[in-house]
Amino acid sequence: MELLHHISDVRALRSSLGNVALVPTMGALHAGHVSLFQKAKALAPHVAATIFVNPTQFGPREDFSKYPRTLEADLQKCREAGVDSVFVPKVEEMYPAGCPEIAIEMPGLSDTLEGQKRPGHFKGVCQVVLKLFNIFTPSHACFGEKDYQQLRIITALAETLNLTVEIIPCPTHREPDGLAMSSRNRYLSATERQQALAISKALRAAELGFQQGFRQTNRLTTTMLHILLESHLLVDYVAAVDPITFKPVQEATKPTLLAVAARVGATRLIDNVVLGGK
Ligand code: PAJ
Repeated sequence: MELLHHISDVRALRSSLGNVALVPTMGALHAGHVSLFQKAKALAPHVAATIFVNPTQFGPREDFSKYPRTLEADLQKCREAGVDSVFVPKVEEMYPAGCPEIAIEMPGLSDTLEGQKRPGHFKGVCQVVLKLFNIFTPSHACFGEKDYQQLRIITALAETLNLTVEIIPCPTHREPDGLAMSSRNRYLSATERQQALAISKALRAAELGFQQGFRQTNRLTTTMLHILLESHLLVDYVAAVDPITFKPVQEATKPTLLAVAARVGATRLIDNVVLGGK
């Protein structure tokens, strides 16, 4: 496995490669990330991962400085998964001193839900992902449905700006008890880990309601809120939206994304499910 630190290293390697499947990450890798590597392996002869905790997507009061950094363990996971190259740039490599501010705005898609609660978050995500696309010129790039709005925004970015990369959605990988895997799960104490289960439980309850024929989304989201509040979670939002436009949906008569963000103690977690197929 090649370990690359500089953009010039990537360019030098890239020139000798055919198709490349890219998996951008912020490290603190878990089985969810590994499932993306496995998907990538089926798409192209070279799988490239990136590990970069991107400062521009964190708000001033967010966890950038304490975001888990576990590089040695991450590289081991990449090796085991058969990743061919890993790009681990320093912040100065991606954002050299004096580089001008640049912003990709996607009003409508990026100012609701996560974008509303985390102003500027998707601007930072689009900035770093577009840079990584230009650095790697991948044929494919894998993104998890766990971050559904991010996946949608990056798909829209690629389509709207006519990028040549194909964005590949990958299903949410869960712990056996239902908790969606996340790098932030490692912040949770044992008690908080139990409380956090309410999130996937709430989504499952809503799914069950939908399967039983309930279509009014406020009925489904009310059920979810009860479950979340019962476990003393601080709810940022519970929303039913169109998975393409992210506009609110009142009746789930077409595919509907149920999205949750909630805090367990100091840890903010997100999860979602699509009702009625994708
Ligand atoms: P990170 O949170 O490290 O996630 C990297 C990729 O792994 C994302 O596409 C995310 O959706 C996916 N992922 C995380 N948990 C998952 C799970 N349980 N199941 C399936 N996929 C999962 O998302 C980011 O980093 C950053 O915003 C990034 C895109 C790298 C830009 O900085």
